[in-house]
Amino acid sequence: MKAQLTRPELDALPSYLPSPIPLDSSGAPQAPDAARLALNELPFGPLPGVLEAIIAAAGDSNRYPDMAAVALRNALADRHGVTPDRIVTGFGSVYLLELLLKAVCEPGQEFVFPWRSYEAYPVVAVGGNIRPVQVPCAADFRQDLDAMSAAITADTRVALICNPNNPTSTAVTRAELTKFIDSVPESVLVVLDEAYGEFVTDPDVPDGLVEYGDRRNVVVLRTMSKAWGLAGLRLGWLAAAPEVATAMRKLLAPFSTSTFAEVAAIAALEQEKEVRRRVDFITAERARMYPALKALATQAPVSQTNFFWLPMADPAAFAAHCEAGGVLIRDFPEAARVTIGTAAENDRLLEVTATADKLLTARID
Ligand SMILES: Cc1ncc(COP(=O)(O)O)c(C=O)c1O
Repeated sequence: MKAQLTRPELDALPSYLPSPIPLDSSGAPQAPDAARLALNELPFGPLPGVLEAIIAAAGDSNRYPDMAAVALRNALADRHGVTPDRIVTGFGSVYLLELLLKAVCEPGQEFVFPWRSYEAYPVVAVGGNIRPVQVPCAADFRQDLDAMSAAITADTRVALICNPNNPTSTAVTRAELTKFIDSVPESVLVVLDEAYGEFVTDPDVPDGLVEYGDRRNVVVLRTMSKAWGLAGLRLGWLAAAPEVATAMRKLLAPFSTSTFAEVAAIAALEQEKEVRRRVDFITAERARMYPALKALATQAPVSQTNFFWLPMADPAAFAAHCEAGGVLIRDFPEAARVTIGTAAENDRLLEVTATADKLLTARID
Protein backbone atom coordinates (compact mmCIF):
# COMPACT_ATOMS: atom_id res chain seq x y z
CA MET A 1 0.00 0.00 0.00
CA LYS A 2 1.28 3.47 -0.89
CA ALA A 3 2.07 5.80 2.01
CA GLN A 4 -0.37 8.72 2.35
CA LEU A 5 1.54 11.92 1.62
CA THR A 6 -1.20 14.45 2.38
CA ARG A 7 -3.69 14.94 5.22
CA PRO A 8 -6.49 12.35 4.98
CA GLU A 9 -9.19 15.00 5.80
CA LEU A 10 -8.47 16.60 2.45
CA ASP A 11 -9.68 13.47 0.64
CA ALA A 12 -13.26 14.41 1.56
CA LEU A 13 -13.01 17.91 0.07
CA PRO A 14 -13.96 18.51 -3.56
CA SER A 15 -10.62 18.23 -5.39
CA TYR A 16 -11.47 20.63 -8.17
CA LEU A 17 -14.28 23.05 -8.78
CA PRO A 18 -14.81 22.93 -12.52
CA SER A 19 -15.20 26.39 -14.05
CA PRO A 20 -18.86 27.16 -14.69
CA ILE A 21 -17.51 29.05 -17.70
CA PRO A 22 -16.63 26.22 -20.14
CA LEU A 23 -13.08 26.66 -21.41
CA ASP A 24 -11.28 25.09 -24.36
CA SER A 25 -7.93 23.33 -23.90
CA SER A 26 -6.07 26.65 -24.21
CA GLY A 27 -8.10 28.12 -21.33
CA ALA A 28 -10.17 30.44 -23.54
CA PRO A 29 -13.98 30.57 -23.04
CA GLN A 30 -15.73 28.12 -25.37
CA ALA A 31 -18.73 30.37 -25.80
CA PRO A 32 -17.37 33.93 -25.59
CA ASP A 33 -20.79 35.42 -26.38
CA ALA A 34 -22.64 33.52 -23.66
CA ALA A 35 -24.20 35.55 -20.85
CA ARG A 36 -22.00 34.88 -17.81
CA LEU A 37 -24.51 34.65 -14.99
CA ALA A 38 -22.71 31.97 -12.97
CA LEU A 39 -20.32 33.73 -10.59
CA ASN A 40 -22.21 36.66 -9.06
CA GLU A 41 -19.97 39.16 -10.78
CA LEU A 42 -21.05 42.64 -11.86
CA PRO A 43 -21.58 42.68 -15.65
CA PHE A 44 -20.01 46.13 -16.18
CA GLY A 45 -16.42 47.02 -17.06
CA PRO A 46 -14.04 48.81 -14.69
CA LEU A 47 -15.26 51.93 -12.90
CA PRO A 48 -14.03 55.27 -14.34
CA GLY A 49 -10.43 55.88 -13.31
CA VAL A 50 -9.63 52.25 -12.47
CA LEU A 51 -7.97 51.35 -15.74
CA GLU A 52 -5.95 54.59 -15.72
CA ALA A 53 -4.75 53.88 -12.17
CA ILE A 54 -3.64 50.37 -13.15
CA ILE A 55 -1.83 51.63 -16.24
CA ALA A 56 -0.12 54.39 -14.27
CA ALA A 57 1.15 51.81 -11.76
CA ALA A 58 2.35 49.36 -14.42
CA GLY A 59 5.77 51.01 -14.69
CA ASP A 60 6.50 49.87 -11.13
CA SER A 61 5.82 46.20 -11.87
CA ASN A 62 9.40 45.31 -10.94
CA ARG A 63 8.84 46.67 -7.42
CA TYR A 64 7.05 44.99 -4.55
CA PRO A 65 3.88 46.68 -3.38
CA ASP A 66 3.57 48.39 0.00
CA MET A 67 3.43 45.42 2.38
CA ALA A 68 1.12 47.30 4.76
CA ALA A 69 -1.14 48.76 2.00
CA VAL A 70 -1.17 52.02 3.97
CA ALA A 71 -2.76 54.18 1.27
CA LEU A 72 -5.64 51.75 0.73
CA ARG A 73 -6.19 51.17 4.46
CA ASN A 74 -6.32 54.94 4.96
CA ALA A 75 -8.82 55.32 2.10
CA LEU A 76 -11.04 52.53 3.49
CA ALA A 77 -10.75 53.94 7.01
CA ASP A 78 -11.77 57.42 5.81
CA ARG A 79 -14.75 56.12 3.91
CA HIS A 80 -16.03 53.93 6.74
CA GLY A 81 -15.14 56.04 9.74
CA VAL A 82 -12.86 53.47 11.38
CA THR A 83 -9.19 53.73 12.25
CA PRO A 84 -6.69 52.18 9.78
CA ASP A 85 -5.22 49.94 12.51
CA ARG A 86 -8.50 47.98 12.43
CA ILE A 87 -8.29 47.22 8.70
CA VAL A 88 -6.61 44.28 7.01
CA THR A 89 -6.50 43.92 3.21
CA GLY A 90 -5.50 40.94 1.12
CA PHE A 91 -6.09 39.00 -2.08
CA GLY A 92 -9.78 38.34 -1.68
CA SER A 93 -11.98 38.11 1.36
CA VAL A 94 -11.80 34.30 1.38
CA TYR A 95 -8.10 34.56 2.02
CA LEU A 96 -8.72 36.95 4.91
CA LEU A 97 -11.21 34.53 6.45
CA GLU A 98 -8.63 31.75 6.20
CA LEU A 99 -6.11 33.99 7.88
CA LEU A 100 -8.53 35.02 10.62
CA LEU A 101 -9.24 31.37 11.44
CA LYS A 102 -5.52 30.72 11.59
CA ALA A 103 -5.03 33.69 13.90
CA VAL A 104 -7.73 32.71 16.41
CA CYS A 105 -8.25 28.91 16.32
CA GLU A 106 -6.08 26.19 17.76
CA PRO A 107 -6.17 22.98 15.74
CA GLY A 108 -9.42 21.10 16.39
CA GLN A 109 -11.38 24.12 17.61
CA GLU A 110 -14.67 24.96 15.95
CA PHE A 111 -15.86 27.33 13.27
CA VAL A 112 -19.67 27.60 13.16
CA PHE A 113 -21.37 28.74 9.95
CA PRO A 114 -24.71 28.35 8.16
CA TRP A 115 -25.33 25.77 5.49
CA ARG A 116 -26.02 25.98 2.65
CA SER A 117 -23.74 28.95 2.37
CA TYR A 118 -20.55 29.93 0.63
CA GLU A 119 -18.64 26.85 -0.44
CA ALA A 120 -15.26 28.15 0.66
CA TYR A 121 -16.20 28.08 4.37
CA PRO A 122 -15.71 24.33 4.94
CA VAL A 123 -12.60 24.36 2.77
CA VAL A 124 -10.81 27.09 4.75
CA ALA A 125 -11.80 25.34 7.97
CA VAL A 126 -10.41 21.96 6.99
CA GLY A 127 -7.36 23.63 5.43
CA GLY A 128 -6.58 25.22 8.79
CA ASN A 129 -7.18 22.04 10.84
CA ILE A 130 -10.30 23.63 12.28
CA ARG A 131 -13.54 21.73 12.82
CA PRO A 132 -16.33 23.01 10.52
CA VAL A 133 -19.74 23.08 12.23
CA GLN A 134 -22.43 23.56 9.60
CA VAL A 135 -25.82 24.72 10.87
CA PRO A 136 -28.65 24.05 8.39
CA CYS A 137 -30.65 27.02 7.11
CA ALA A 138 -34.37 27.02 7.85
CA ALA A 139 -36.90 25.71 5.32
CA ASP A 140 -37.26 29.21 3.84
CA PHE A 141 -33.48 29.28 3.06
CA ARG A 142 -32.81 31.85 5.77
CA GLN A 143 -30.02 31.39 8.31
CA ASP A 144 -31.34 29.96 11.56
CA LEU A 145 -29.65 32.16 14.12
CA ASP A 146 -31.19 30.45 17.14
CA ALA A 147 -29.79 27.13 15.91
CA MET A 148 -26.43 28.78 15.30
CA SER A 149 -26.41 30.19 18.79
CA ALA A 150 -27.24 26.72 20.16
CA ALA A 151 -24.38 25.20 18.12
CA ILE A 152 -21.74 27.25 19.92
CA THR A 153 -19.72 25.20 22.40
CA ALA A 154 -16.68 25.76 24.61
CA ASP A 155 -14.57 24.81 21.57
CA THR A 156 -16.10 27.41 19.26
CA ARG A 157 -13.81 30.32 18.40
CA VAL A 158 -15.52 31.79 15.34
CA ALA A 159 -19.19 31.97 14.26
CA LEU A 160 -19.98 33.41 10.84
CA ILE A 161 -23.15 34.96 9.46
CA CYS A 162 -23.22 35.52 5.71
CA ASN A 163 -25.43 38.56 5.26
CA PRO A 164 -26.93 38.35 2.75
CA ASN A 165 -26.26 34.67 2.23
CA ASN A 166 -24.63 33.15 -0.84
CA PRO A 167 -26.13 31.14 -2.52
CA THR A 168 -29.62 31.41 -1.00
CA SER A 169 -29.85 35.24 -1.47
CA THR A 170 -31.66 35.82 1.85
CA ALA A 171 -30.64 38.21 4.61
CA VAL A 172 -30.99 38.26 8.38
CA THR A 173 -32.61 41.24 10.07
CA ARG A 174 -31.27 43.68 12.62
CA ALA A 175 -33.42 42.14 15.37
CA GLU A 176 -32.18 38.61 14.58
CA LEU A 177 -28.55 39.63 14.32
CA THR A 178 -28.54 41.75 17.47
CA LYS A 179 -30.07 38.89 19.45
CA PHE A 180 -27.51 36.48 18.01
CA ILE A 181 -24.48 38.68 18.70
CA ASP A 182 -25.73 39.35 22.22
CA SER A 183 -26.05 35.59 22.79
CA VAL A 184 -22.47 34.78 21.74
CA PRO A 185 -19.79 34.66 24.45
CA GLU A 186 -17.28 37.51 24.19
CA SER A 187 -14.51 34.99 23.58
CA VAL A 188 -16.12 33.92 20.28
CA LEU A 189 -15.53 36.11 17.23
CA VAL A 190 -18.61 36.83 15.15
CA VAL A 191 -17.71 37.29 11.48
CA LEU A 192 -20.24 39.14 9.33
CA ASP A 193 -19.48 38.27 5.72
CA GLU A 194 -21.05 41.16 3.81
CA ALA A 195 -19.76 40.34 0.32
CA TYR A 196 -23.18 41.32 -1.10
CA GLY A 197 -24.09 44.00 1.44
CA GLU A 198 -24.25 46.77 -1.17
CA PHE A 199 -27.23 45.06 -2.87
CA VAL A 200 -29.43 45.03 0.23
CA THR A 201 -32.60 47.13 -0.09
CA ASP A 202 -34.55 45.82 2.93
CA PRO A 203 -34.25 48.53 5.62
CA ASP A 204 -34.51 45.87 8.34
CA VAL A 205 -31.17 44.39 7.27
CA PRO A 206 -28.29 46.11 9.09
CA ASP A 207 -24.94 47.35 7.82
CA GLY A 208 -22.69 45.30 10.09
CA LEU A 209 -19.86 47.80 10.19
CA VAL A 210 -22.11 50.72 11.09
CA GLU A 211 -24.21 48.86 13.64
CA TYR A 212 -21.87 46.29 15.22
CA GLY A 213 -18.40 47.36 14.07
CA ASP A 214 -17.44 48.76 17.47
CA ARG A 215 -18.01 45.49 19.31
CA ARG A 216 -14.69 43.93 20.15
CA ASN A 217 -15.65 40.42 19.05
CA VAL A 218 -17.24 41.41 15.72
CA VAL A 219 -15.30 41.21 12.45
CA VAL A 220 -16.82 42.64 9.28
CA LEU A 221 -15.62 41.03 6.06
CA ARG A 222 -16.01 42.93 2.78
CA THR A 223 -14.92 42.47 -0.80
CA MET A 224 -14.26 44.68 -3.81
CA SER A 225 -15.17 41.71 -6.06
CA LYS A 226 -18.91 42.28 -6.30
CA ALA A 227 -20.49 45.77 -6.31
CA TRP A 228 -17.09 47.40 -6.85
CA GLY A 229 -16.38 45.29 -9.93
CA LEU A 230 -12.80 44.23 -9.13
CA ALA A 231 -13.18 40.42 -8.95
CA GLY A 232 -10.25 39.81 -11.29
CA LEU A 233 -7.88 41.90 -9.17
CA ARG A 234 -8.61 40.02 -5.92
CA LEU A 235 -9.09 42.51 -3.14
CA GLY A 236 -10.87 41.84 0.10
CA TRP A 237 -10.71 43.69 3.41
CA LEU A 238 -11.99 43.43 6.92
CA ALA A 239 -12.47 45.60 9.97
CA ALA A 240 -11.75 44.02 13.36
CA ALA A 241 -10.63 45.00 16.84
CA PRO A 242 -7.07 46.41 16.63
CA GLU A 243 -5.53 43.39 18.40
CA VAL A 244 -7.25 40.95 16.02
CA ALA A 245 -6.13 42.98 12.99
CA THR A 246 -2.57 43.18 14.34
CA ALA A 247 -2.43 39.41 14.90
CA MET A 248 -3.71 38.81 11.39
CA ARG A 249 -1.20 41.15 9.80
CA LYS A 250 1.59 39.09 11.39
CA LEU A 251 0.38 36.08 9.40
CA LEU A 252 -0.35 37.79 6.07
CA ALA A 253 1.30 36.22 3.05
CA PRO A 254 3.98 38.77 2.13
CA PHE A 255 2.71 41.50 -0.21
CA SER A 256 -0.74 39.96 -0.46
CA THR A 257 -2.30 43.23 -1.64
CA SER A 258 -0.84 43.72 -5.11
CA THR A 259 0.14 47.15 -6.40
CA PHE A 260 -2.62 46.93 -9.00
CA ALA A 261 -5.30 45.84 -6.55
CA GLU A 262 -4.35 48.69 -4.23
CA VAL A 263 -4.38 51.50 -6.81
CA ALA A 264 -7.52 50.13 -8.46
CA ALA A 265 -9.37 49.89 -5.16
CA ILE A 266 -8.38 53.45 -4.22
CA ALA A 267 -9.62 54.70 -7.62
CA ALA A 268 -12.84 52.69 -7.23
CA LEU A 269 -13.51 54.17 -3.79
CA GLU A 270 -13.64 57.59 -5.45
CA GLN A 271 -16.53 56.41 -7.62
CA GLU A 272 -19.10 55.88 -4.93
CA LYS A 273 -21.85 57.60 -6.95
CA GLU A 274 -21.27 55.43 -9.99
CA VAL A 275 -21.19 52.30 -7.81
CA ARG A 276 -24.56 53.32 -6.35
CA ARG A 277 -25.93 53.87 -9.89
CA ARG A 278 -24.78 50.39 -10.94
CA VAL A 279 -26.13 48.75 -7.81
CA ASP A 280 -29.47 50.54 -8.32
CA PHE A 281 -29.60 49.16 -11.84
CA ILE A 282 -29.04 45.61 -10.55
CA THR A 283 -31.68 45.92 -7.83
CA ALA A 284 -34.18 47.36 -10.36
CA GLU A 285 -33.50 44.39 -12.64
CA ARG A 286 -33.96 42.12 -9.63
CA ALA A 287 -37.45 43.53 -9.07
CA ARG A 288 -38.25 43.20 -12.77
CA MET A 289 -37.09 39.56 -13.05
CA TYR A 290 -38.43 38.18 -9.79
CA PRO A 291 -42.08 37.54 -10.79
CA ALA A 292 -41.09 35.44 -13.84
CA LEU A 293 -38.48 33.48 -11.90
CA LYS A 294 -40.82 32.96 -8.97
CA ALA A 295 -43.41 31.54 -11.38
CA LEU A 296 -40.77 29.11 -12.59
CA ALA A 297 -39.32 28.14 -9.19
CA THR A 298 -42.14 28.81 -6.77
CA GLN A 299 -39.98 28.59 -3.64
CA ALA A 300 -37.49 31.21 -4.85
CA PRO A 301 -36.91 33.59 -1.93
CA VAL A 302 -36.90 37.37 -2.29
CA SER A 303 -33.28 38.23 -3.10
CA GLN A 304 -31.20 40.80 -1.24
CA THR A 305 -28.23 40.14 -3.52
CA ASN A 306 -27.24 40.33 -7.20
CA PHE A 307 -28.46 36.77 -7.82
CA PHE A 308 -31.48 34.49 -7.41
CA TRP A 309 -31.79 31.11 -5.72
CA LEU A 310 -34.15 28.88 -7.67
CA PRO A 311 -34.98 25.61 -5.88
CA MET A 312 -36.11 23.03 -8.42
CA ALA A 313 -36.26 19.34 -9.22
CA ASP A 314 -33.33 19.07 -11.63
CA PRO A 315 -30.94 22.03 -11.44
CA ALA A 316 -28.20 20.33 -13.50
CA ALA A 317 -30.56 19.72 -16.42
CA PHE A 318 -31.88 23.27 -16.07
CA ALA A 319 -28.30 24.62 -16.22
CA ALA A 320 -27.64 22.55 -19.34
CA HIS A 321 -30.82 23.93 -20.89
CA CYS A 322 -29.69 27.49 -20.11
CA GLU A 323 -26.21 26.82 -21.47
CA ALA A 324 -27.68 25.52 -24.73
CA GLY A 325 -29.54 28.85 -24.91
CA GLY A 326 -26.34 30.85 -24.38
CA VAL A 327 -26.70 31.56 -20.66
CA LEU A 328 -24.19 30.22 -18.13
CA ILE A 329 -25.57 29.72 -14.64
CA ARG A 330 -24.57 27.72 -11.58
CA ASP A 331 -26.33 24.56 -10.43
CA PHE A 332 -26.32 23.14 -6.91
CA PRO A 333 -27.90 19.79 -5.97
CA GLU A 334 -31.15 21.40 -4.81
CA ALA A 335 -31.35 24.68 -6.75
CA ALA A 336 -29.99 26.77 -9.58
CA ARG A 337 -28.33 30.11 -8.88
CA VAL A 338 -28.51 32.84 -11.49
CA THR A 339 -26.65 36.15 -11.35
CA ILE A 340 -28.31 39.37 -12.48
CA GLY A 341 -26.48 40.74 -15.53
CA THR A 342 -27.10 43.44 -18.12
CA ALA A 343 -30.67 44.03 -19.29
CA ALA A 344 -29.96 42.09 -22.50
CA GLU A 345 -28.44 39.17 -20.57
CA ASN A 346 -31.36 39.11 -18.18
CA ASP A 347 -33.83 39.15 -21.08
CA ARG A 348 -31.97 36.22 -22.60
CA LEU A 349 -32.19 34.34 -19.31
CA LEU A 350 -35.93 34.99 -19.05
CA GLU A 351 -36.46 33.82 -22.65
CA VAL A 352 -34.47 30.65 -22.05
CA THR A 353 -36.18 29.86 -18.75
CA ALA A 354 -39.59 30.29 -20.40
CA THR A 355 -38.83 27.29 -22.60
CA ALA A 356 -37.47 25.06 -19.80
CA ASP A 357 -39.30 21.78 -19.33
CA LYS A 358 -41.69 22.26 -16.40
CA LEU A 359 -40.51 18.92 -15.00
CA LEU A 360 -37.04 20.35 -14.39
CA THR A 361 -38.29 23.29 -12.42
CA ALA A 362 -41.13 21.58 -10.57
CA ARG A 363 -41.43 22.16 -6.86
CA ILE A 364 -39.38 19.80 -4.81
CA ASP A 365 -41.20 19.73 -1.49
C1 LIG B 1 -20.32 35.15 0.62
C2 LIG B 1 -19.02 35.35 -0.07
N1 LIG B 1 -17.96 35.71 0.64
C3 LIG B 1 -16.78 35.89 0.07
C4 LIG B 1 -16.62 35.72 -1.29
C5 LIG B 1 -15.26 35.85 -1.88
O1 LIG B 1 -14.94 37.09 -2.24
P1 LIG B 1 -13.48 37.44 -2.73
O2 LIG B 1 -13.56 37.56 -4.22
O3 LIG B 1 -13.18 38.73 -2.06
O4 LIG B 1 -12.55 36.36 -2.28
C6 LIG B 1 -17.68 35.33 -2.07
C7 LIG B 1 -17.47 35.12 -3.50
O5 LIG B 1 -18.28 34.65 -4.23
C8 LIG B 1 -18.91 35.14 -1.45
O6 LIG B 1 -19.97 34.73 -2.14
